[in-house]
Amino acid sequence: MKIGILTSGGDCPGLNAVIRGAVLKGLKSHGDEFVGFRDGWRGLLQGDVMELSRHSVRGISKQGGTILGTSRTNPLGPDGGAGVVRDTMERLGVGGLIAIGGEGTLAAAQLLAQEGLRIVGVPKTVDNDLDATDYTFGFDTAVQIATEAIDRLRTTGESHHRCMVAEVMGRHTGWIALHAGMASGAHAILIPEQRVCMDQITEWVTDAHKRGRAPLVVVAEGFVPEGRESAHSERGLDTFGRPRLGGIADVLAPEIEARTGLETRATVLGHIQRGGVPTAYDGVLATRLGMAAADAVDAGAWDTMVALRGTHIVRTGFAEALGKLKTVPGGRYEEAAVLFG
Ligand code: F6P
Repeated sequence: MKIGILTSGGDCPGLNAVIRGAVLKGLKSHGDEFVGFRDGWRGLLQGDVMELSRHSVRGISKQGGTILGTSRTNPLGPDGGAGVVRDTMERLGVGGLIAIGGEGTLAAAQLLAQEGLRIVGVPKTVDNDLDATDYTFGFDTAVQIATEAIDRLRTTGESHHRCMVAEVMGRHTGWIALHAGMASGAHAILIPEQRVCMDQITEWVTDAHKRGRAPLVVVAEGFVPEGRESAHSERGLDTFGRPRLGGIADVLAPEIEARTGLETRATVLGHIQRGGVPTAYDGVLATRLGMAAADAVDAGAWDTMVALRGTHIVRTGFAEALGKLKTVPGGRYEEAAVLFG
């Protein structure tokens, strides 16, 4: 069968490993051939394809980003729809599609699958907030990058006797903040799931300072202090209508400085958390998911996505997998909070 692959939504380390895993498994085990759609659903809607041969996937699992490119194009937008997708697939002789993406991509894939399109999904996000899978590839790499960066902030903070506030990704959930914060020994971790008040944050920072430490605060971009409407409202909406996040560290730092009298600096780590080579863990997970996606296509397991459960890669229905965000459980936060201050 000729199989199409696309990567859609925000990129993350491991996308190329999925592509390579799917192509090699499909070629070797099932005699499939592959094409890649450029820039996500845009390439599918416009029939913009590239051949994916054994040669073209050689060595790519070590590359960051996606060789196919990505976009946030909605396949069900004004220029799209199931009919356009079906026409392109038929015209190019593509018998099945592997869609690699996050919540938005997989939700669109589900709607198209319900229209009879032959699609298998592969979950992806650095945020690790998809409920259907125990871990998403890209998360381990993002935590590694964030931890290394926060460790560097610690030493400069210690030299200057400053409080350092590090903002990490996490629009809806605080997985990266929790893991990178724990790994780097942060004195406070602030996540969207827990509305901590400014008095409590001040107390943690002051306690750490009194013990002679340079206080280190790790905050997820979606955090809003208790008692505040939103820390981000003044940043408005992006062109996709989403609140423009990023910048909570810049809100917190002057407030911490005013309350504690400690010189405080903010650093927003931003997209470096999504770039570069995947960790070995993410590389293996992504490769296994890609291989499982090729098997699912071969088995005609349409309207499913592949997921990690424990150490096994399983197939799960889109319906079962979507619509529920995997948030940080209260118990995980309480466990970490014992170490704050
Ligand atoms: O969903 C992954 C994510 O990295 C979020 O943590 C972040 O809010 C968002 O993507 C950033 O998106 P963009 O790359 O469009 O700025």
